[in-house]
Amino acid sequence: MATKYDLSLCIMTLLLALLTLLSYATASHPHNKTSSPFDFLEHLKGCHKGNRVKGINNLKKYLERFGYLNYKNHSRFNNDDFDDLLEEAVKTYQINYQLKPTGKLDDKTVSTMMIPRCGFPDIINGTTSMLSAKHRQHHGSIHTTAHYSFIPGNPKWPPSKYRLTYAFAPNTRSDAPAAIARAFATWQKNTHFTFSKTSNYQSADLKISFQRRDHGDGVPFDGPLGVLAHSFSPTIGIFHLDAEENWSVGVKPGAIEMETLALHEIGHLLGLGHSSVKEAIMVSGLPAGVKRGLHPDDIQGIKALYNV
Ligand SMILES: *[C@@H]1O[C@H](CO)[C@@H](O)[C@H](O)[C@H]1NC(C)=O
Ligand SMILES: *[C@@H]1O[C@H](CO)[C@@H](O)[C@H](O)[C@H]1NC(C)=O
Ligand SMILES: *[C@@H]1O[C@H](CO)[C@@H](O)[C@H](O)[C@H]1NC(C)=O
Ligand SMILES: [Zn+2]
Repeated sequence: MATKYDLSLCIMTLLLALLTLLSYATASHPHNKTSSPFDFLEHLKGCHKGNRVKGINNLKKYLERFGYLNYKNHSRFNNDDFDDLLEEAVKTYQINYQLKPTGKLDDKTVSTMMIPRCGFPDIINGTTSMLSAKHRQHHGSIHTTAHYSFIPGNPKWPPSKYRLTYAFAPNTRSDAPAAIARAFATWQKNTHFTFSKTSNYQSADLKISFQRRDHGDGVPFDGPLGVLAHSFSPTIGIFHLDAEENWSVGVKPGAIEMETLALHEIGHLLGLGHSSVKEAIMVSGLPAGVKRGLHPDDIQGIKALYNV
């Protein structure tokens, strides 16, 4: 049986271990930079086909998550070989993000991939209308400046549903409703939709909630940075934000600007996919400390989807 002495010794040891861990963490992060689930990419800079480097399997998981890869062979998916399928996936990613399609993990590709982003995949079931698809159709020469995309099957709200209601889950953090309401107002000003807030969460067309990692809808969050939020295509109307992000209202260094993120996710709720225009609200990535508004590409996209 444990005595009081054993117990306090045990607690002391635990405390010491904790202190050691803490000082290690401080020493290895002298600038107090939050680590990101995408940090593994940093170590893969310069990798290309034929390489076998620890962590390549994480790159495969990353590209699979966002729709770029679908290995039939699980051992090829789990190993660290930079194979032909992976090279092809990197090239497709580079085309979608208007990077040089080298198939290599050059610095620009790695820094683009490391930007915290939306969890909505760029490619769904192998289908996308992002640049890579247009590239294929036009054999590499694209004469369009519009780079918005739709969701495969073009899901959209029917004309009887152009007046949408939205609601926040009970106990939503107090700074969210006003910031997200401004994002709805911006879309309302620029489209044929109107949005009104309701307190009836169950019956609202659009349901907004903050979720923690592994909440079991198949697209788990991953703690600070990495994936920031996700939402579903029409007419599902679900919008989840990662509760563990360092959210801010307005631009603050080291924080994710909530209104900007909401503008992006509302785009998905209305039927837009990701855009290849770096300045568009529908580009997948949102670095900390950045605020964006709607871009002509986003408005063109919605108008084209709804023929208005
Ligand atoms: C799956 O991939 C592994 C590793 O490349 C290979 O050894 C194996 O033969 C493959 N299996 C099939 C069924 O293709
Ligand atoms: C993707 O394909 C699978 C199998 O064909 C299907 O069950 C699933 O609904 C599809 N998902 C989407 C989002 O279209
Ligand atoms: C969180 O955001 C605040 C600004 O709102 C910033 O001062 C702080 O450094 C950020 N924290 C981290 C861990 O990045
Ligand atoms: Zn998105």
